[in-house]
Amino acid sequence: MLRGLNSREEMRRLQCAADAILERFDENEHRTVFHSGPERQRNSDRYFLESGDKVRCFFEPDAFDADGRLRVPKRLAVNKIGHALHDLDPEFRRFSFQDAVKGILRSLGYARPLLPQSMYIFKQPRIGAEVAPHQDSTFLYTEPNTVLGFWWAVEDASVDNGCLWAAPGSHKQGNRSRFVRNAANDGTLFDPPQSVLSKAGGVALEAPAGSLVLLHADLVHWSLDNRSDRSRHAYTIHVIEGRPGVVWPSSNWLQRTDGKEFTSVYDVHLD
Ligand code: FE2
Repeated sequence: MLRGLNSREEMRRLQCAADAILERFDENEHRTVFHSGPERQRNSDRYFLESGDKVRCFFEPDAFDADGRLRVPKRLAVNKIGHALHDLDPEFRRFSFQDAVKGILRSLGYARPLLPQSMYIFKQPRIGAEVAPHQDSTFLYTEPNTVLGFWWAVEDASVDNGCLWAAPGSHKQGNRSRFVRNAANDGTLFDPPQSVLSKAGGVALEAPAGSLVLLHADLVHWSLDNRSDRSRHAYTIHVIEGRPGVVWPSSNWLQRTDGKEFTSVYDVHLD
């Protein structure tokens, strides 16, 4: 964890940018809920599958009442925004391609990093859902595996508002399961079917706002639900190596609909 990599002011700017997206979002457009566990399989629809090069909002599972009406205002009902904030929103673009990100990637030996995915995660007060133990390599995968996760605390993240947890050493056991598009390309499945991953030995990664957590793709990590009165906003990007010989399989759920390559991190020059 890199504590205080970014300032609270920088994180507040991201929060404002996320608020502006929610303000523009028409909550009657769809009812797509984000689930992190096996539920996910039944919930993959076009809105999700085509979000790889768009800015789209996904609801918390507990956002609706039995009649399908929002129980809370929309700005408190959305689970996350994904998955191309880094390409399409100026504030998130500036943040995602900051020099510190490039420096970290250079220090880790990335020759031509590409950025396939960004997400703004709300972990809303009282209804913020648990994210089950998982490996990011389940959801984003290259051959060989080069996925690296960047997770920033936009707000202070602690045990009571649903901070990250991780199982030290779990990344040494390799990928257990992949979340892939089905043969008909209209849904997804876990291959092999995902078993429940253990939380044994988990440590809480409490992080003050502005801190960055780097996540190895095979590290088992999770977060608990948020029953507190405080939100726990976070911003994440995932980076892959784009040099020749590294393959982004067509079975990955995330595919650009416009056929363009993912943005090359070192090639983005900010004003
Ligand atoms: Fe994750």
